[in-house]
Amino acid sequence: MNFKDTLNKRRSVRSLEKIEISDQDVKKLAKAASLAPSCFNNQPWNYVFVRDQDTIDEIVATMPAGNQKWTKNASMIVGVFAKKDDDCVLGDREYYLFDTGLATQNLLLQATEMGLVAHPIAGYNKEKTSHIMNIPDDYNLITLLVVGKRADEIASQLSDDQKKSEKNRPPRKDIDEIAFFEEFSG
Ligand SMILES: Cc1cc2nc3c(=O)[nH]c(=O)nc-3n(C[C@H](O)[C@H](O)[C@H](O)COP(=O)(O)O)c2cc1C
Repeated sequence: MNFKDTLNKRRSVRSLEKIEISDQDVKKLAKAASLAPSCFNNQPWNYVFVRDQDTIDEIVATMPAGNQKWTKNASMIVGVFAKKDDDCVLGDREYYLFDTGLATQNLLLQATEMGLVAHPIAGYNKEKTSHIMNIPDDYNLITLLVVGKRADEIASQLSDDQKKSEKNRPPRKDIDEIAFFEEFSG
């Protein structure tokens, strides 16, 4: 797949079916994340890859109902975590979230190229999930990635809006709203 195709193919869909994810697959995803740039090459990102079904069920049970109804079909849940002091802090600029985001987008694109869905979510219980994943208190569990295979059929348990977004990417802001020539004029 070329870059443009991968970029366009990456989607946060919710109709998932189970697929076997090998250690080799996990290493490929982690390797892609590791190639991201970071402030002073600090590489603050960390990932826990959970494939054990009982542990997935435990994590899913911490989520709001809207997420539970589709994340229960995950083949893997990835915990993305980092700590502020592991990266540059320059005045009010704390780079650990930015740098972990860069690495995580690499991981999402790698997953897409491998034919997998990797859907980031913020809707989970941070304390309970950190405990399940054995993540120490001084790390911030920033997001979870729900990984699986895209199902051929749209999942019946999704809301109408969610079903709609399975077919078409949710709309984006116009380029004029986010990009400016020479100075900000918003
Ligand atoms: C940080 C973050 C948190 C998100 N949280 C959720 C979530 O809790 N539940 C959900 O269904 N989707 C969640 N999403 C997915 C977004 O809704 C989705 O990325 C957005 O609608 C754009 O669609 P696309 O990724 O298919 O282009 C989240 C995405 C990000 C990046």
